[in-house]
Amino acid sequence: MSENKRDVKNSLLFECAWEVANKVGGIYTVIKTKVPVTVSEYGDRYCLIGPLSYKTAPMEVEQQEPKDPHLASTLESMRNVGVKALYGRWLIEGAPHVLLFDTGSQYSRLDEWKGDLWNLAGIPTPPNDHETNETIVFGYIVAWFLGEYVARQLGTAVVAHFHEWQAGLAIPLLRKRHVDVTTVFTTHATLLGRYLCAGSVDFYNNLQYFDVDHEAGKRGIYHRYCIERSSAHCADVFTTVSHITAYEAEHLLKRKPDGVLPNGLNVVKFQAMHEFQNLHATAKSKINEFVRGHFYGHYDFDLDNTLYFFTAGRYEYRNKGVDMFIEALARTLIVIFDGIGADIRFSGLNYRLKRSNSKTTVVAFIIMPAATHSYTIEALKGQAVVKQLRDTVSEIQNRLGTRLFEHAIRSNGDHATLPAPEKFLSEEDKVLLKRRIFALKRNALPPITTHNMADDANDPILNQIRRVQLFNSEADRVKIVFHPDFLNSSNPILGLDYEEFVRGCHLGVFPSYYEPWGYTPAECTVMGIPSITTNLSGFGCFMQDLIERPQDEGCYIVDRRSQSVEDTVNQLTDNMFTFSNKTRRQRINQRNRVERLSPLLDWKNLGIEYSKARQLALRRAYPDSFYGVSGLEGEDEEFDFGMERMMPNSVPASPRFRMSGIATPGDIGTLTEEMQALGTSDYRGQAWGLTEEDEEEGYPFPLV
Ligand code: UDP
Ligand code: G6P
Ligand code: GLC
Repeated sequence: MSENKRDVKNSLLFECAWEVANKVGGIYTVIKTKVPVTVSEYGDRYCLIGPLSYKTAPMEVEQQEPKDPHLASTLESMRNVGVKALYGRWLIEGAPHVLLFDTGSQYSRLDEWKGDLWNLAGIPTPPNDHETNETIVFGYIVAWFLGEYVARQLGTAVVAHFHEWQAGLAIPLLRKRHVDVTTVFTTHATLLGRYLCAGSVDFYNNLQYFDVDHEAGKRGIYHRYCIERSSAHCADVFTTVSHITAYEAEHLLKRKPDGVLPNGLNVVKFQAMHEFQNLHATAKSKINEFVRGHFYGHYDFDLDNTLYFFTAGRYEYRNKGVDMFIEALARTLIVIFDGIGADIRFSGLNYRLKRSNSKTTVVAFIIMPAATHSYTIEALKGQAVVKQLRDTVSEIQNRLGTRLFEHAIRSNGDHATLPAPEKFLSEEDKVLLKRRIFALKRNALPPITTHNMADDANDPILNQIRRVQLFNSEADRVKIVFHPDFLNSSNPILGLDYEEFVRGCHLGVFPSYYEPWGYTPAECTVMGIPSITTNLSGFGCFMQDLIERPQDEGCYIVDRRSQSVEDTVNQLTDNMFTFSNKTRRQRINQRNRVERLSPLLDWKNLGIEYSKARQLALRRAYPDSFYGVSGLEGEDEEFDFGMERMMPNSVPASPRFRMSGIATPGDIGTLTEEMQALGTSDYRGQAWGLTEEDEEEGYPFPLV
């Protein structure tokens, strides 16, 4: 560190992630939604750093010249030796400064940097791992930039915050080069955790015992694992997004996180409750339109009595719990005779709805991008025939209206007789209408998927649906639609943006096995849509910690920790069945209740955890500026990081809030120096471990 005393009160912040202005998954949501609260704290002293994608950047970023002369001269010197970069404003709420580096412009140095990485940190890199190559080039460029920048700008302390291993490599480089910045690393998962869970490993019971190097090597990710681990170890402050991932990181990355930074959202409050309820009704009518087309010819259910359930996310079949969702929808009746009587177990939602003679139909959507060729002809045809029918009906309606008007206006007021209505329908109209109705004939059942899959025969979701035989037949009360692509309002089939789609649905179902946070149920909550998640997801545990009876608030959390998979599937089915039996009034009430929880997830309340992490990083790097030369705290009492603690006013008074005396949700993710001193059992949430019986039974339905 330099001899200069840098100003720590007005520190500069660079936040670096692979998903800055580059949407992949949840990290993009973290960065983008957090911008307004970070800008309100840092203003122009905040700049995001990400990779330059020429496909998306022109839409996302408005180019500008840097006002900071040190930044301008640093970029100029880098450009002079061939580094391509785009600096400007990211066109999102808060309009932060953003700096995007073109990794392609420095690929010529890849081998040199790989050699350096080996000499510096002993990290080996195979030749053909594109993601790792990108990580290396990006990491070296970012470390280069920060090194040059702080060599020019000597007055103010710089906090560099990095997210996830793809952006983390700059951290060990900065440390080795003694660059005068302080670093925070936030991991949103661990590589090894994601890989191990995707297989059929009993992950949570064995966390302490994995031979991490061996496991990483076996999966061909040893080099990536090394980058992740060195990022975690070299950072001044190491954090993650939930207690469950903190526990995982401690065992797999071998550093106990300094604290937890729960993910928030940028919550938009409506003036009145009915406004978001209206949005639900409008969005639902668009989904209704899709359903009419998709199920044409077999559209024999009442849309007024139909519920839309959905799951969505990156295609991680087991980690995201899609296997469990389908199982809970479809399990058929199994009767176990024990000599004395019969025990009926394992009946899924479809079976229970049928048995109770329910008039409700559930359409379950699975929105998960997979490799596809195009939309299926059937899916396109469905929407087309319904559109043609609608167009024909409105043409006939117009003609009929004209005839009716002409007839009425010619009538003598004394003899106001009306001919039979069918007289107004011309022969031509009748023929046209019949043709349209005949076009609705269909020999096959409505398709499960909307797209031609690249590998239909081996697709895990399709194979499970085949196994459980949930084929959209008339008798089924549960129908399935698999949309193997993210949603977009310009899609010809299901033309809604994801947010609008969520608003139009009734229930989100996310029974994840591996989920460090899980934005999808959090997003449901702030949009006032009830959801089901698990106590193996960061979000689920967070809500369980804060609310006494989350299920009463429309936030269902199934137990995947301490009960068998069978019991979890049954619990999930119970939740879905109970929800299906609610009246419209009850559903409206539940939407109101769940929406009232949104302040718990608002960055205005959770952003303070990020401030604390930055404060800790500054304190560790520049202790003299805080404690004074004598080392006694208190000398800097006027030091104020500018974040006010806010109690979410509109959150219903929950017994848990009252009992524990918790002041803010921020306290849940308490980030303190003391956290280091505690053992491993201090993470929030229930104790770990399945019963012995479960371990013997293993996974009770086939893993595809
Ligand atoms: N998402 C989306 N379009 C879709 C489905 C999901 O944009 O059709 C977004 C969703 O809004 C969420 C993100 O993808 O913000 C998924 O984040 P999550 O934390 O749930 O999972 P991750 O993919 O990061 O594991
Ligand atoms: C919102 C609208 C109501 C509508 C209801 C449908 O609350 O404001 O007008 O009746 O949604 O709810 P449902 O759960 O049946 O889709
Ligand atoms: C990761 C996790 C997800 C989390 C997201 C944002 O991609 O898989 O659970 O919500 O990061 O932190």
